[in-house]
This record gives sequence, C-alpha cells and structure tokens, in this order.
Amino acid sequence: MVNQIQMGWFSRGFLIILITLVLGDGFIENGIASSVTYDSKALVIDGQRRILFSGSIHYPRSTPDVWPEIIRKSKEGGLDVIETYVFWNYHEPERGQYYFEGRFDLVKFIKVVQEAGLYVHLRIGPYACAEWNYGGFPMWLHCIPGVQFRTTNKQFQEAMASFITKIVNLMKDENLFASQGGPIILAQIENEYGNVEWAYGIGGALYVKWAASTAVALNTTVPWVMCSQEDAPDPIINTCNGFYCDTFTPNSPAKPKMWTEGYTGWFLSFGSAIPFRPVEDLAFSVARFFETGGTFQNYYMYFGGTNFGRTAGGPLIATSYDYDAPIDEYGFFRQPKWNHLKDLHKSIKLCEKYLVNSDPNYISFGTNLEGHVYNDSAGCAAFLANTDHTSDANISFNGNAYFLPAWSVSILPDCKTVVFNTAKVVSQKTLGDSSHEPKVSSQFSLATSPWKWYHEKVGTSDNYSFTAPDLLEQINTTKDASDYLWYSTSINVDEVIAPKEQNEVYLHIKSLGHAALLFVNKALAGFGYGNHDDASFAIDQLITLNQGNNSLEILSLMIGLQNYGPWFDIAPAGIYSVIVDGFMEYMQDMSSGDWTYQVGTDGEYLELNKLEQENSPLWASGTNLPINRSLIWYKTSFTAPEGTGPLALNLSSMGKGQAWVNGESIGRYWPSYLSPATGCSESCDYRGPYDSNKCLKACGQPAQTLYHVPRSWVNPGQNVLVLHEELGGDPSKIRVLTKTGQEICAQVSEIDPLQVGSWKPSTVSKPMSPSIELSCEQGWHIVSVGFASFGTPKGQCGKFSHGTCNADGVLPIVQKACLGRVSCSVTVSSLKFEDPCPGVTKSLVVEALCSE
Ligand SMILES: *[C@@H]1O[C@H](CO)[C@@H](O)[C@H](O)[C@H]1NC(C)=O
Ligand SMILES: *[C@@H]1O[C@H](CO)[C@@H](O)[C@H](O)[C@H]1NC(C)=O
Ligand SMILES: *[C@@H]1O[C@H](CO)[C@@H](O)[C@H](O)[C@H]1NC(C)=O
Ligand SMILES: *[C@@H]1O[C@H](CO)[C@@H](O)[C@H](O)[C@H]1NC(C)=O
Ligand SMILES: *[C@@H]1O[C@H](CO)[C@@H](O)[C@H](O)[C@H]1NC(C)=O
Ligand SMILES: *[C@@H]1O[C@H](CO)[C@@H](O)[C@H](O)[C@H]1NC(C)=O
Ligand SMILES: *[C@@H]1O[C@H](CO)[C@@H](O)[C@H](O)[C@H]1NC(C)=O
Ligand SMILES: *[C@@H]1O[C@H](CO)[C@@H](O)[C@H](O)[C@H]1NC(C)=O
Repeated sequence: MVNQIQMGWFSRGFLIILITLVLGDGFIENGIASSVTYDSKALVIDGQRRILFSGSIHYPRSTPDVWPEIIRKSKEGGLDVIETYVFWNYHEPERGQYYFEGRFDLVKFIKVVQEAGLYVHLRIGPYACAEWNYGGFPMWLHCIPGVQFRTTNKQFQEAMASFITKIVNLMKDENLFASQGGPIILAQIENEYGNVEWAYGIGGALYVKWAASTAVALNTTVPWVMCSQEDAPDPIINTCNGFYCDTFTPNSPAKPKMWTEGYTGWFLSFGSAIPFRPVEDLAFSVARFFETGGTFQNYYMYFGGTNFGRTAGGPLIATSYDYDAPIDEYGFFRQPKWNHLKDLHKSIKLCEKYLVNSDPNYISFGTNLEGHVYNDSAGCAAFLANTDHTSDANISFNGNAYFLPAWSVSILPDCKTVVFNTAKVVSQKTLGDSSHEPKVSSQFSLATSPWKWYHEKVGTSDNYSFTAPDLLEQINTTKDASDYLWYSTSINVDEVIAPKEQNEVYLHIKSLGHAALLFVNKALAGFGYGNHDDASFAIDQLITLNQGNNSLEILSLMIGLQNYGPWFDIAPAGIYSVIVDGFMEYMQDMSSGDWTYQVGTDGEYLELNKLEQENSPLWASGTNLPINRSLIWYKTSFTAPEGTGPLALNLSSMGKGQAWVNGESIGRYWPSYLSPATGCSESCDYRGPYDSNKCLKACGQPAQTLYHVPRSWVNPGQNVLVLHEELGGDPSKIRVLTKTGQEICAQVSEIDPLQVGSWKPSTVSKPMSPSIELSCEQGWHIVSVGFASFGTPKGQCGKFSHGTCNADGVLPIVQKACLGRVSCSVTVSSLKFEDPCPGVTKSLVVEALCSE
C-alpha cells in the first residue's frame, strides 16, 4: 500500500508535493488525498479526521459542457465532495458492450470534479434507484433465463460482479482512487437494500454478505458504504438516508455517523403537485446532524438536472429532476437556498476541530430545548436547538442569553457568538425561484418556418407485427425498446353480437400501467392512465360498432420503468383484460383471443425524430395545421435566442408525447395531466417534521410545462424541433424561452435578534453592522435598483413598499454602490443618515435587476 501511494505521488510530479508543503500546517487541500480510512468519529483523510459536505450531481442529467460550471458553483457553496451513482443500463446497453461517451463519460466527469479540487463519492451500486429508468438495471439482465435481481442468484451475481469490477478497474486505470492521487474517497455497494431486504428472505441476507465481500475484494483502497443497511457487514459503513438523520447511529462503535441522502426537496411525477422543501427546515436537519455527532453529510440533490430521453424512472417520473435543489434544473443558483446552506457550511467548518476531536456534551434547557457542546482544553463550540414546532424561546447558556426561534439551531463556534441560526435567512433571494420553474424574462415565438406534420398510422403494420393468443405482458414484449405496444384485434358484430338497431356496447379495459389510447375503427375512442403511486387503471367506454367487422386497437404506453420497491424489476405492465359488454346480458371476454402486436409506432420505425428525416417527403405541409389530433408528428425549425444560457420550451399547449431538438431527445412531456386541485400550501410552514407531501405547489396545474433544452444542443442558425404528440395539442403556441436577467432582493434587520442584546446587552459581544450582499450570476450586472429603503418597509420580496419610518436618500446611495457591478455590498452603518425613527428596529431592503 505504501509503495502504491508513493508511486501515485511521484507520478503526479514534484509540484504537488511542493504546493502541499508551502500551504503548511492546518491547511487542508481538498481533492488530493493519498489515504482514506475511518474511525469512530469521521472519515480520516491523510491522517486527519474531516467534516465533509457532499452533494449529489448525476452526470447524465446535464451536458458535459456545463459540468465545470455546476461543480464550481457547488464548491463555492461549500461542498467538499460530489456524489454520483453509476448508471449501468447506459454503460452496458448490451451485455459485454460498454458505452462511456457524451453525457455518460464517467471518467471525464470525475476528472472535472478533481480539477475543481473536490472529492468524489462513487455509488457504484449497481442498483441506483434515482428515479432512473429501471433503477439503472439493463433490460438484458431481465431477459436472462432464471435471473432474480438483488438476491442470491447466480445469473444476477455474475453480471453484477462483472459490472462493478469493470467500473473499479476503469477507475484504477485512470488513477482516480485516492491512493492513486485521484479524487475518489468513498464508494458505495448496493443501495437502500435494507428497505426491501425483508421481501427476499434468507437469500436477501446472504446477498448482503456476498455484495459486501465482493466489493471489499476489489481492493479500491477507499472505504465502502452501504446506505440504509443496518446489517452492513464490517468493514462496510452503514449510512443514513432520510429527511433527518440526527437520531441515527451506525451498527458499530468503530464506524462514523454518516448521512448519504439528505433530501433538498423531492422528485416530481406527472400528474402530481410540485414538492419543495423550505431551506430553514433543510438547514435545521443538517445542523441537527452535526450537533449530534455526524461528520459526513450529502445533499440529495445538490443539482438535480433533467431526465433527458427515456432516462426517467417510473412509473410516471417527470422529465424535470429539479428536486428543489440549491442549484436549479437550469444550473442557476436557487436563492436563498444555496446561499443559506453556504453560510451553514462555513459556520459548521468553523467548529470542525472540536467536532472531530470530541463527543458532544448534552445540555437540557427545558422541554424541546437542548444544547450540545464540543470542547477540549483549547476551547469549545456549541449548538443550541429548539425542536418545538411552534414556540420560540429564550435560553441562557454560559452566562449569555440567546433567542431560539421554534424549529431552529444556533451555531456558536466559540460557545459564545451565534454565527448562524437555521431559521434566520439573510441571503439574497431570487424572485420567481421559489417555483421549480425559472423566472424567465424573454419569450421567443418559434415559428420561423411553417410547421409540417405526419399522421401516424393507427394500429399495426404487417412488417413489424406478430400474433399471439392472450394478452401479453408489455415489458417482456417490448423489452423497453419503445414506450409503445399496439394491441390489435377485431370484433365482428354479425358473428358475436346479436344485431341491434344501435350497436352500442361497453368496452371494459384493464391495464397494469401506465397509460393507453383506445381506437375503434381507427378513431380515438378513449384514454386512460395511472399515476406514480398506482399505475394501473381501467377504461370503461361506451362505443358504437358497425355491422360486420370492427377493428379494436389499443396503444399501451410506458412512462418510465419502475425504479423502486421489493422485486420492482418484475412488476408487470400493459393491458390484461378486455371485455365487451353488449345487450341482453351478452358479454365476451376477449382477453384470451388472438391479438396482433407491434412494438413501437409507425413514426418510430420511420425515425421521424432523426435529423436525416428532416427533408423527408413524408412530412406534409399546408395552410391548415392540424391541431388537437392524436398520434401526429410535428416538425419546424427555429432560430435560437442569442446568448449562452440554457433554453426552455414552453409546451403548455401540448398534450402528451416526446420532443427532440436537432435529433436530441429532451424527454417526455405531459402538460395536459393536471395535478389534484387540493393539498397545496403556497407558503409552507417550515416548522415541524417535513415529509414529501408537506409542501406542495401548483395544485390543479401541470407538473411541468417548461422543458430544458441545453444550449450545447442548439446551433446559432436554424434548429429542428420534432414532436411526437399522442393525445392532441396545438404546436403553434409553443414558445422558446431563455433567461435574460434576474430580479434579486435582499433584506436585513439592524438588530440581530438571536444574540438577545436587548434583554441582556452587557453579556453579548457587539454584533457586526448588518450588511446586504447582492450578486448576479451568468456574467450579468446590476442594471437597475427598483426599491431601496432603510426604516420599516412593508411587504416581501417583489412587493415592498415604504413604511411609516423611512430614511431619505437611500435609493441613490444604493444605486451608486451597485449599478453596473456584478456584486455589491451595502452596510447599514455606511448609510450615514439622521436616524429616521430613533428607538425603532429598522431594516434595510433592496430590490434590483441583474441583466446584460
Ligand atoms: C490492494 O491494492 C494495493 C494498492 O494497489 C496493493 O498494494 C495491495 O497489495 C492490494 N491488496 C490486495 C489484497 O490485493
Ligand atoms: C466541556 O463542557 C461540558 C459542558 O459544558 C463541561 O461539563 C466539561 O467540563 C467541559 N470539558 C472541558 C474539557 O472543558
Ligand atoms: C425573548 O426575550 C425578548 C427580550 O426580552 C422578548 O422580547 C421576547 O418576547 C422573548 N421571547 C420569548 C419567546 O420568550
Ligand atoms: C414494409 O416493408 C416493405 C418491404 O420492405 C416496404 O416496401 C414497405 O414500405 C414497408 N411498410 C411500412 C409501413 O413500413
Ligand atoms: C376482421 O378483420 C380482421 C383484421 O383485418 C381479419 O383478420 C378478420 O379475418 C376479419 N374477420 C371477418 C369475419 O371478416
Ligand atoms: C417475463 O418473462 C420472464 C421469463 O422470460 C418470466 O419469468 C416473467 O414472469 C415474465 N414477466 C411477466 C410480468 O410476465
Ligand atoms: C380536442 O379533442 C377532444 C376529443 O376529440 C375534445 O374533447 C376536446 O374538446 C378538443 N379540444 C380542443 C381544444 O379542441
Ligand atoms: C407558457 O405558455 C402558456 C400559454 O401557452 C402561458 O400561460 C404560460 O404563462 C407560459 N409559461 C411561462 C413560464 O412562460
């Protein structure tokens, strides 16, 4: 091991050693490590126990050109580690054939993290979950006879061992493990298996032992973790995943307390309201974790990104994987979340030497009021917490008085000064960013060229169809080569149904998921769909038949393969019952008759999404653009808006389908599926325990109307947009959007209420004069200051107005300090005014606009 380390260092050259020496004692250079171990307190990197902040960023959920910028913003936000899963189904699309290009260039991603000076936690799995199609398992694995996933099964274990060995060897070949001078300090085997292990019996328990020993034998020289796995065998560290992990303890006193998934929000599914998590509660959960002895914490997600193509998991996971993360889907800071967490990280890092060297001493200040003090002979750091859901409190600690808002933690790196309270958000806010959709200031009409269209064939084509008795299970039939499976048959009224004046019958169709279109004699006659929690549904439709032969065709749709749950890999889908319910108690169960099948649609076989088909004569044109038509393809070309930022398509006028820009799939869209009308709370009380249903917005609205188009996928000239519309929509209303500016807002109070100076001033050190920091991103600068007030302004960001107390002449001072700058800072004490209202607690508020 020692030899290996030295080789690693020497191969990186002399320079690194020199730099490390020059930086001197106490300076910890991230991203360069040579040995990683752990003890009861923390991960130990090059002999030092460390407090580490980590964030999940999944490389295929953004494009490689923006990786450096997202990683830079993560580092600036105070992260030490970037965590990612490895996505087996895209890396090994066919058994033994590997793919590591483009968005799936794992090695490049890790090197980008390394160049930024951050560490990597590589969650090899190979089960990812991640709201990723099939949890990251390849479909060929499902097709191996006798295979059983995630349990003691020879076929599965062989394939899994082969893939994890492939990944570990790839990392070793590229010198990416810490002992080789690389950034990887941690690796994960399996993923949240403890949540489902009960369903696998003895085979499950044996599988855990096998997975652990197989991983350890790979000799990565960095520690392995298993998350949500109480029985993780030594030396593997079992870690916590959850909204809160302060009460977690690892399964051995020799292991540190680590948190691998702390949720910054929650995932979005079609047909659901948009989940969000207030930063006050997120910061509270993180502070509580470090307060109670934790040393490694990871945000899931720090940047969520986009489920491009058919990568979204299921059922019905949306295309946006924004996750209410500190960096939004489009790569912009989500404020005040990003900044508040940055301040939190700085504050906890100020306590690092105490946190890693001692165990906390618990102090009770009363019901739901507690403190934890970390001290040594040199000094101490303290966390003071109020876990009450509603009541604020004043407490006395070390002879000083402190105000603790309900559901908050104050951090005192010197056991005296409050540098941070989780409920006190002082950071700049970005207007509009409370929604998961970005505030956009420009819309461009698309139609730079007329629309063309193609009416897709309803039903099967002889070329691609086959006939089988009974209704086939969909996933086994399509092998996920397409979202679509046609089920086709015919009903002969003369033969099977007593003739009637009106040949009206009920059709009862039952499906295991996820959606289906019903066609009778080639005309759309019904639509049914499930939701994320229950993908099954029924279509009960009164239909009119003709005398003689009638065609009955069902297009069954998948919207992401299931990615979670016990035995999720064999969860079936598709149509399983079709009953014709006629007159005079006539009823025919057609489920076991002959059905003709086709995997995929006509337009897919014609590859209409491909650039090569751009000028195909199949595309029709004319003055009457067909709207509100099912099974139709649309095509146009558009000029991209100027600039370098990301684009979005507003598809709110469309029904359901998939969209491509220049042949690249931007994912599935489904804006016509509205979320339930109730259950939302536009302003959610952060106090009290959070769960994924607590804070929802956009009830009765589409889950997603804006669809991300990476800038690197568009050309400065003409760009081709193709849509495959399944239900019916109006493409002429589609708009392309880009962000050309950002409204920002900040507010700070003259008196810091946390240090309760007003009721025991003599014992409290004088707080620094409060100041406002404003900053623009994207190279923008402050082009206008719309509002500024020092006094008692009323309202909230975006809607401030002057209060009864208002100092004169604040606006010109702020304008002078800020206009034309990328960032500026205004301090209350620098505003040399006559006090407009002595004895009143005043605050400073600024609203400004960033733009080019
Ligand atoms: C593990 O790897 C290290 C460094 O490459 C090497 O020195 C050591 O011999 C290996 N151990 C085993 C058991 O293979
Ligand atoms: C650390 O703090 C606790 C609680 O305040 C106190 O009981 C203990 O004596 C302190 N230890 C040291 C070494 O200062
Ligand atoms: C805390 O103390 C301040 C100053 O005396 C007082 O205004 C406030 O009401 C107190 N809050 C609580 C919850 O006791
Ligand atoms: C079916 O195949 C034939 C022969 O290859 C071809 O000419 C025809 O265009 C195909 N039809 C469709 C609908 O693809
Ligand atoms: C009805 O149409 C189907 C499909 O075209 C055909 O296979 C079947 O033989 C027809 N039945 C009768 C009675 O004409
Ligand atoms: C899919 O096929 C496999 C064997 O190929 C079988 O074991 C499994 O039960 C099938 N699944 C469903 C849902 O029919
Ligand atoms: C679209 O068509 C459906 C069914 O054909 C109809 O119910 C709906 O009202 C139509 N919508 C518009 C906007 O024309
Ligand atoms: C998207 O377009 C619809 C109209 O089609 C409009 O009501 C909505 O405000 C647009 N959304 C955004 C974010 O521009």
